[in-house]
Amino acid sequence: MNRREIVLAPIVHVLGARPNFVKAAPVIDALRAAGAEQVVIHTGQHYDERMSEIFFTELGLPEPDVNLGVGSGSHAAQTASLLVGLEEEFTSRSPALVIVYGDVNSTIAAALVAAKLHIPVAHVEAGLRSFDNTMPEEINRRLVDQLSDLAFVTSPEGVGHLANEGVDVDKAHLVGNPMIDTLLANLDKFDTDRVRAENGLPDRYVLATMHRPANVDSPETAAALVGHLHGVADLAPLVIPVHPRGRANLMAAGLDDHEGVHVLEPLGYIDFIAAVRGAAAVVTDSGGLQEETTILGVPCLTVRPNTERPITITHGTNRLVTFEELVPAARKALESQVGESARKPPLWDGQAGPRIAEVIMEFLVD
Ligand code: UD1
Repeated sequence: MNRREIVLAPIVHVLGARPNFVKAAPVIDALRAAGAEQVVIHTGQHYDERMSEIFFTELGLPEPDVNLGVGSGSHAAQTASLLVGLEEEFTSRSPALVIVYGDVNSTIAAALVAAKLHIPVAHVEAGLRSFDNTMPEEINRRLVDQLSDLAFVTSPEGVGHLANEGVDVDKAHLVGNPMIDTLLANLDKFDTDRVRAENGLPDRYVLATMHRPANVDSPETAAALVGHLHGVADLAPLVIPVHPRGRANLMAAGLDDHEGVHVLEPLGYIDFIAAVRGAAAVVTDSGGLQEETTILGVPCLTVRPNTERPITITHGTNRLVTFEELVPAARKALESQVGESARKPPLWDGQAGPRIAEVIMEFLVD
């Protein structure tokens, strides 16, 4: 394909859920600088203003060319709507390449549709593995990597995981972490004092986020978790912006029945990372936050039995904890002075977007 054909056939980005927006911003910027024609399809998997639109505004993402409005549903219902909507879009737009991000249902749906239409697929954040198939994201990751023509890997062990699963290593490109590109590009904007003042937060606090199905979907588990979060709030005020998944169960379990707990609505990107930057420690089950705390040097307690991001433990501030370990680990984290990690994961330097764009442009002109 020559340069003229690239202009005619667009690169299509498929974005659906909050973490996708943060990863796509630097890739779209770098491809724009390289002169590529781009189309952004928002699947509508996340649709609340605070889960979606605010990210587009704050990150300078282009207005989506189309929003499929798939919304919420069971995995089957949501994925089915995604498949049908994306097939229509890809058929009418004939992309030169489809770029998918992370591990959400929009990611696997887009990769599957593109592969069956013989459209090349690029996966940003390939090769991560928790080896825990009870996580829907792990199933999505494995399948997307099998379907991808370009696998953009954030962390060296990811290349080995791909090789072990029979993925041709020539497809794998260790490029660093675009989520960290976005973090570093916005460092000047993370004003913790402003976020504290606007949300009535104390000077010293622990920031928590909880949304994994394994932690919040069952009322019994959510209630047990709330008990341990109250234990953390006994040590220091606990600030928790609540994701819509789990809100009902966490609140029904009395999350805010403790004077040290500050429940917030979901925050936009800038305010959220500012709140993380100012936290004495973070308690989470998020994937991205394990990476962001690694760069910001904030102690991170991940309430999960495993992580697909072990580099955040070996090179960062992350530690896995059980429910029972949470309060003692929080006590210890609050006593520690972690500061910026001495060792940063390789290539987490703010240049992943340009590296990805370079590989893509080479792939398309070959
Ligand atoms: C999805 C991803 C998860 C990612 C998370 C980031 C999958 C399988 N999971 O989980 O990997 O960490 O996004 O946030 O794709 N809801 C709203 N408003 C919204 C979006 C969701 O109210 O804008 C509610 C709905 O009740 C919905 C529930 O949240 O049923 C869950 O949304 P869904 O998109 O299914 O998955 P997440 O839990 O957000």
